Amino acid sequence: DKTHKIAVIAGDGIGTEVVPEGLRALEAAARRFDIRLEFEHFEFGSCDYYLEHGKMLPDDWFETLSGFDAIFYGAVGWPEKVPDHISLWGSLLQFRRHFDQYINLRPCRLMPGIKSPLADREPGDIDFYVVRENTEGEYSSIGGKIFEGTERETVMQETVMTRTGVDRVLKYAFELAQSRPRRKLTSATKSNGISITMPYWDERVKAMAGKYPDVSVDQFHIDILTANFVLHPDWFDVVVASNLFGDILSDLGPACTGTIGVAPSANINPEGKFPSLFEPVHGSAPDIAGKGIANPIGQIWCGAMMLEHLGYQEAGEAMVSAIERVLADDDKSALTPDLKGQGTTQSLGEKIAAAIG
Ligand code: NAD
Ligand code: IPM
Ligand code: MN
Repeated sequence: DKTHKIAVIAGDGIGTEVVPEGLRALEAAARRFDIRLEFEHFEFGSCDYYLEHGKMLPDDWFETLSGFDAIFYGAVGWPEKVPDHISLWGSLLQFRRHFDQYINLRPCRLMPGIKSPLADREPGDIDFYVVRENTEGEYSSIGGKIFEGTERETVMQETVMTRTGVDRVLKYAFELAQSRPRRKLTSATKSNGISITMPYWDERVKAMAGKYPDVSVDQFHIDILTANFVLHPDWFDVVVASNLFGDILSDLGPACTGTIGVAPSANINPEGKFPSLFEPVHGSAPDIAGKGIANPIGQIWCGAMMLEHLGYQEAGEAMVSAIERVLADDDKSALTPDLKGQGTTQSLGEKIAAAIG
């Protein structure tokens, strides 16, 4: 059987606290399902590395990481040390682009035992995926600043949509919808106000919908879509969105399921030409870093998505089911404060690893 090489980058803040719990859970799953994982840890991709080296990544990062089957990432960013656009454009966003991880898959599920901040919502009412375009769109480096320092100072930044880029994320989303019982796809748009790129997005959705007659399709402008996430989360099954809209929806959705601390994300290169990257939706959370109270579930669930990506469906499902059992347990003492418990990152991580075991 193959040994899978996993690059581990903990990054900053709570990244360094939740990653060890993600690894603990992965090791438990690997033991139980007889999977061979080999972890190699890297210091780069963190703000401390930047302070020491003047850059976020070593020059040979692409060659180094290309040799791995997957990347297991915590979180990056510490604005007091390095401005966010420098740390993020110097690391995570480079990985997404150079490894052509054009799908950012972000499940959003209300888990048993967690109370939604939305009144009367129960598990089953919120269970959808955000499929976020991950390599182009509003996240572009095309633009500039002119008349700097004068009253006419002007900044501009372009949104980029390519037919290839839009069609491939739509295709992935339609196929995902097709594989789910409800077969429903919702497109996030803003073609009333953003008059060139968003009508183009809508046009490509329409063209793609023709190829998937068994998938029912609707679309909402992003403003009312955010309202509907709160008012009618049960309407959604697969939500496909541009880079920025997907970013916003994938914090809002998990917040509706109780805490963003549980939300995982998979940055996928579906062709397998490059390694895919697994990181929680949340960031480095400077406000709680160092306290040992960060919720490790997002990171652990990322481990499950990574195993499924590597072909171990059953092991991934076992990890998610262990998370669900621990959350549903009447004894809430091991849960972290964001889940209304009194536990720590470690107590919750250990309980989940034992449940996988
Ligand atoms: P954040 O996600 O780090 O934190 C937002 C809020 O959610 C905070 O109150 C935090 O305490 C809470 N939170 C986040 N994760 C949690 C967890 N696992 N358990 C319990 N509570 C949790 O977002 P932010 O404050 O906007 O960003 C902080 C830094 O992280 C910035 O530098 C930002 O750029 C970066 N960031 C990185 C990523 C990433 O690496 N993928 C994602 C988002 C933000
Ligand atoms: C995310 C994050 C990143 C993004 C930031 C940190 C650049 O918010 O992964 O959701 O906007 O993609
Ligand atoms: Mn985000």
